[in-house]
Amino acid sequence: MSAKTASKKDQRYKPVTPEIVGELRRIVGERNVVIDEEKMEAYSHDETNAEEYGHMPEVVVLPTTTEQIAEIVKLANRELVPITPRGAGSGLSGGAIPTEGGILLTVERMNKMIELDVDNMVIVVEAGMVTNDLAQMVEEKKLFFAGYPMSLQSCYIGGNIAENAGGGKAVKYGVTGRYILGVELVTPTGDVLWLGGKLSKDVSGYDLKQLVVGSEGTLGIVTKAIIKLIGLPTASSDLLVLFKTPREAIDVVPTIMAKGIVPTSIEFMDQLSVQTSCAYLNESLPYEEAGAMLLLEVDGTNPDQVEADLIAIGELCEQHGAMEVYVAEDTTTKERIWSVRRNIAEAFKVYSPIQSLEDIVVPIASIPDVIPELERLSAEYGMKIPCYGHAGDGNLHATLVKDPDMDMKTWHKNEAACLRDLYALTTRLGGKISGEHGIGIKRKDYLKEVANPVELQLMEGIKRAWDPNNIMNPGKLFDLS
Ligand code: LAC
Ligand code: ZN
Repeated sequence: MSAKTASKKDQRYKPVTPEIVGELRRIVGERNVVIDEEKMEAYSHDETNAEEYGHMPEVVVLPTTTEQIAEIVKLANRELVPITPRGAGSGLSGGAIPTEGGILLTVERMNKMIELDVDNMVIVVEAGMVTNDLAQMVEEKKLFFAGYPMSLQSCYIGGNIAENAGGGKAVKYGVTGRYILGVELVTPTGDVLWLGGKLSKDVSGYDLKQLVVGSEGTLGIVTKAIIKLIGLPTASSDLLVLFKTPREAIDVVPTIMAKGIVPTSIEFMDQLSVQTSCAYLNESLPYEEAGAMLLLEVDGTNPDQVEADLIAIGELCEQHGAMEVYVAEDTTTKERIWSVRRNIAEAFKVYSPIQSLEDIVVPIASIPDVIPELERLSAEYGMKIPCYGHAGDGNLHATLVKDPDMDMKTWHKNEAACLRDLYALTTRLGGKISGEHGIGIKRKDYLKEVANPVELQLMEGIKRAWDPNNIMNPGKLFDLS
């Protein structure tokens, strides 16, 4: 077992007693309650490093209905047992890790489609539906769910909502939250309600639905969602553009946008990222030695328009110093290029599993100011800091990668100091420390340092009002003072 067991458990919480396990079995049925340590291990971590952030739950429950979840939450609230909601566990900030032990509630058995309402251009699904299944289901009807992240294949829609996930198409289509019209929520006191609806507009009071989106499971458990669909783009084309330097690559981004062209994706990869991913995939891209690459996609319903946009982008890139512009029209070439981009994180994990995958976000024009600073931090703290990400959103996955030879004590010290410097820089540039992966447990100490204290106080006030006993995913985002 790699995950740490109860270390500094909050004394206010009560343990999961045999009586509570009995109650849970009564609610969800014997086979939907897991207390076997070996089977629970998979629920003790997410995609962050298990050694560093993992923590075992005391019990795992696999409910199949909203009513069961409401009963479980009422029980947890009454008995003061912490409860951690979980989707696919593909998160990158520890949001679904049961850091206080208690009940781990997975929505994996709640993966049904409730309704595909083409007249209203919405689909209603349960929170445990794999996002890819959702995407395919609507694609059959020539419809499109545009708000999905890069981990499409594995993640659940419930997790996307909890984190307000971003991803590769956000430049044009926006993030998950834009497509969530309504959620069914079990509140931290066990009430069930719908927020929002099949509506494009709603100013009837505070926008609680949008508050739930991105709240990292701290304000309740989303059980169902009404998701907005749009027409499926039928034409798309990709460009791989090579630049000598990251600055040249980034400088071209606002130039493209200013022309009124909105690419679907503008992804940035620095040289180290490309080379590491190519080596991992046994792939070779032309000019791996280019200082930086942009991967751009254009989509739409009119192939001629897509092509015209693509040509215009290619010309702009050339005018701004691009070394080469490659068009990828066929599916195989597109897949090869995107695979290099998608596998960067995995490739660095093979080089060194100990790393800190960041997702800072800055105003797009400030991206060129970040890159040289990363080089400085890399030299100062003796670690590789590759950088790739969603250039069109100013959202960069600068990744602190431990040198395999560095001892753990030095790594921890340097990692913390380097993150502090990185976040201070981000904040100075008018940015935020997370654009799409969330705060979770990984960044909460840093959030405290960079956020406005009044803003934090307001957030804590909301948490207290929704969750008076602090049983719902406690210790994520912030510790209540
Ligand atoms: C990506 C994930 C790490 O963009 O957010 O690849
Ligand atoms: Zn990303």
